[in-house]
Amino acid sequence: MFDYVLFDLDGTLTRSGDGIKKSAAHAIAHLGYPPLTDEQLDTFVGPPLLESFMAMCGMDEHTALQAVEVYRERFGRVGWRENAVYAGIAPLLKALRAAGKFVALATAKPEVLARRIVEHFGLAPYLSAVVGISMTEHHADKAAIIQKALPAGADRRRAVMVGDRKFDVLGAREAGVTALAVGYGYGSREELEACAPDLFAPDVASLFPLLGVARPRGAFITFEGTDGCGKSTQMALAGDWLEARGWEVVRTREPGGCQLSERIRALVLADARDENARGMTAECEALLFAASRAQHVHDVILPALEAGKIVLCDRFLDSSIVYQGFGRELGEDFIRQINAPARKACPDLTLLYEIDEREALGRATREGRPDRIEAEQDAYFARVRRAYEALAAAQPQRVRALDAAGSIEDVFSRTRRAVADFLTTKE
Ligand code: TYD
Repeated sequence: MFDYVLFDLDGTLTRSGDGIKKSAAHAIAHLGYPPLTDEQLDTFVGPPLLESFMAMCGMDEHTALQAVEVYRERFGRVGWRENAVYAGIAPLLKALRAAGKFVALATAKPEVLARRIVEHFGLAPYLSAVVGISMTEHHADKAAIIQKALPAGADRRRAVMVGDRKFDVLGAREAGVTALAVGYGYGSREELEACAPDLFAPDVASLFPLLGVARPRGAFITFEGTDGCGKSTQMALAGDWLEARGWEVVRTREPGGCQLSERIRALVLADARDENARGMTAECEALLFAASRAQHVHDVILPALEAGKIVLCDRFLDSSIVYQGFGRELGEDFIRQINAPARKACPDLTLLYEIDEREALGRATREGRPDRIEAEQDAYFARVRRAYEALAAAQPQRVRALDAAGSIEDVFSRTRRAVADFLTTKE
């Protein structure tokens, strides 16, 4: 269908309105013009700035040029980062590249800024070309940008321009390529209907069939480590990082993660002094973890993976192997057997946070009363720790051991590197 797919940036790949609107409002105030409403500022997202300043504030061309300079100063300093990639864009670009399509950015933004944005948000590896205007240009001709973004000799009938504004649709028509308008950006329905695009996508999900690619299955990333290793904090940061880069993320945990499994969690992690939990056998404990997991995989993990999402899970089957199989000495085989239903969801990547066990336990117990499991003996924790090490050694392609010592930021730089490596290698 289409071999060449060109994307607009603002309002199509990124929800950049915040930085653009704040920078426009700053320029308007700086030049002493009356402030605009939020809706009026929306019109600045996408079209050339010079025209917007003239049309929306009644500036003459000379003043509007000054406004563009003031705008660019703020945008280049802070505005470019007041931005996030729309959910689902990262898997879309990845699928297009995997299908062998030429994918490029065709934006009315200065090219240097556009490059900085796509690099910062991890989209650069999916783009064959990034084309915008030079810092000295003020008039962006979208048709010319589209033509420049296409490789020499490209068949225009096999090219599509995806954008959220009239400017993109008209530019596509002039350049002789198919115009695909998206309804989730900054162009109003009236604006888009008036220019009659060839194709229309109300949301990111509908771009997959329109561009002829299937939505890839998601990815399953688990976070493991001894109690107090900081994996939950790292998982929260990794989720934010992935979302800002256009991935759809589901965050969950074990034991628990869905209604029924959270009730099992309350039972199995009962406080060390809780009468109801006293005398629970190791087998009963292992079966409760397995029961919680079977429901969780069915209710949460598999549906999210099928919908193409990245599932981040705080502990999974490895925890049972390590804590019940080795800690409680029930054996790995027994744990694998009782967890057969959970094997439908095998983690693609497991981040294992390694920390000295006494220090980790100190961190965990300082946060509150020890639960039943935290109150166990040193020997138990030593077995758990050794079992984690053995797991990392046995499955190096899946389990990535990370040093959990240092500040949250230090550890997150390791987490980020591991996740980024995984995303670039996974196909
Ligand atoms: P939690 O409060 O989630 O703490 P943490 O931050 O350490 O994850 O408690 C989970 C506890 O349950 C933890 O001590 C490990 C234990 N556990 C098992 O023993 N087996 C399992 O299969 C799972 C998922 C957890």
